[in-house]
Amino acid sequence: MPDTKAAAIVLAAGKGTRMKSKLPKVMHRIAGRTLIGHVLDHLAPLKLARVIAVIAPGMDDVTKEVAPHGIVFQAKQLGTGHAVGSAREAFKDFSGDILVVYGDTPFVATVTLQRMFKRRREPDNPAIVVLGMRPVDPTGYGRLVLGSDGTLDRIVEHKDATEAERAIGLANSGVMAIDGSVVWSLIDRLDNKNAKGEFYLTDIVAFARKDGRRCAVVEAPAEELLGVNSRSELAAAEALFQTRARIAAMENGATLTDPASVFFAADTKVGRDVVIGPNVQFGLGVEIADDAEIRAFCHIEGAKIESGAIIGPFARIRPRTTIGAGAHVGNFIELKATEFGAGAKANHVSYLGDSTIGAKANIGAGTIVCNYDGVTKSRSTIGAGAFVGSDSVLVSPVTVGEGAYVAAGSVITHDVPPDALAIARSQQTDKPGWATKFRAMKSKKKD
Ligand code: UD1
Ligand code: MG
Repeated sequence: MPDTKAAAIVLAAGKGTRMKSKLPKVMHRIAGRTLIGHVLDHLAPLKLARVIAVIAPGMDDVTKEVAPHGIVFQAKQLGTGHAVGSAREAFKDFSGDILVVYGDTPFVATVTLQRMFKRRREPDNPAIVVLGMRPVDPTGYGRLVLGSDGTLDRIVEHKDATEAERAIGLANSGVMAIDGSVVWSLIDRLDNKNAKGEFYLTDIVAFARKDGRRCAVVEAPAEELLGVNSRSELAAAEALFQTRARIAAMENGATLTDPASVFFAADTKVGRDVVIGPNVQFGLGVEIADDAEIRAFCHIEGAKIESGAIIGPFARIRPRTTIGAGAHVGNFIELKATEFGAGAKANHVSYLGDSTIGAKANIGAGTIVCNYDGVTKSRSTIGAGAFVGSDSVLVSPVTVGEGAYVAAGSVITHDVPPDALAIARSQQTDKPGWATKFRAMKSKKKD
């Protein structure tokens, strides 16, 4: 059931100048997923009535990334309060609570956001619930100034803070849940008379207090609220993600021989008793069923690997591939958009692109499926139990029937009937004594 009482605004109009990039900051990736993609993933379970991202004009790739959610433009980045105000039109028919999150804070957890909404709906009806944190060094962050009853009185930005206020360890993460019945009137009252000359969203806390409303703080670990502003911070966030993903995979029953050299994507699913060797990288869209083994130095993306399959070492599995139960995909094998049947084997140096490989088929060393003629891509099918001899080339589209044999070194250009043998190579001729005569001729010339 969608939560009709709550919506979110994702602030993402900042250019992220410190990234020194032509990409908007929120389009940089952690574990294969954009920063803003991570944020949207964490919002999804909340089933919010509406999610709107505030972006700068020209950020077309962000518009695509957040679809089907909507966007609004903030032409000039005049501050976080102004950014939230830019979304007002998008909420004119909506009176529920507004959650404000940042597009560059990728790890904010769903459970934390749920805690904020829960607090917001408690009987004392706080107008604003702010997500606080206690970073080791709070320099640069807004500080949460609490009243004697422990509720939130105001937020003071670092640049505007006194020495005493700077000594406060409780900092503003930027995430807020705001009572929908007052949010726009609070935003209306903002001005930019402050150290940065910006419309600070944080000022709405003091306004709500003046109106006699309570404001509350929910705390979360600073690590969860880490923001990305530079390439170094991006790398730190990636490292943090990977550490957690490795631990999660192991806690779930997978063995990682050398966890530090395994890189997961944001959505990698790893079953029980899966064994992952060293130096393995996963792209988005990988599911590995129980008991599968991924040996060293594999690169795998967009693939479903069924139970007990053995992949690698040194295999590259590309998107839209499925590998059946108990199949073997060995060294220097590249699979793309291939349905690789249960128990099938391709153990050495092959490219199988746009193909269907039947159950228990055996693909010899050096087999190539030529799926591309320079203009179009075509599919080939190798039937169940077929045996393709080494160094064969299948010029797609062709079908090798079930149980058929393809002789080594064949170039297959038309379909092979089931249970037939196809030989498509030039005949071998032997010239007896030729080598002896040849050597004799050569040695004579030397004299
Ligand atoms: C803000 C908070 C500060 C908090 C800190 C946490 C204010 C005034 N200050 O400060 O209390 O400790 O975040 O990181 O809110 N953005 C826009 N349009 C704008 C300005 C910003 O979309 O005009 C977006 C940015 O892209 C970013 C987010 O809002 O995602 C935060 O903006 P930023 O300028 O980084 O705020 P801080 O100064 O860090
Ligand atoms: Mg910031």
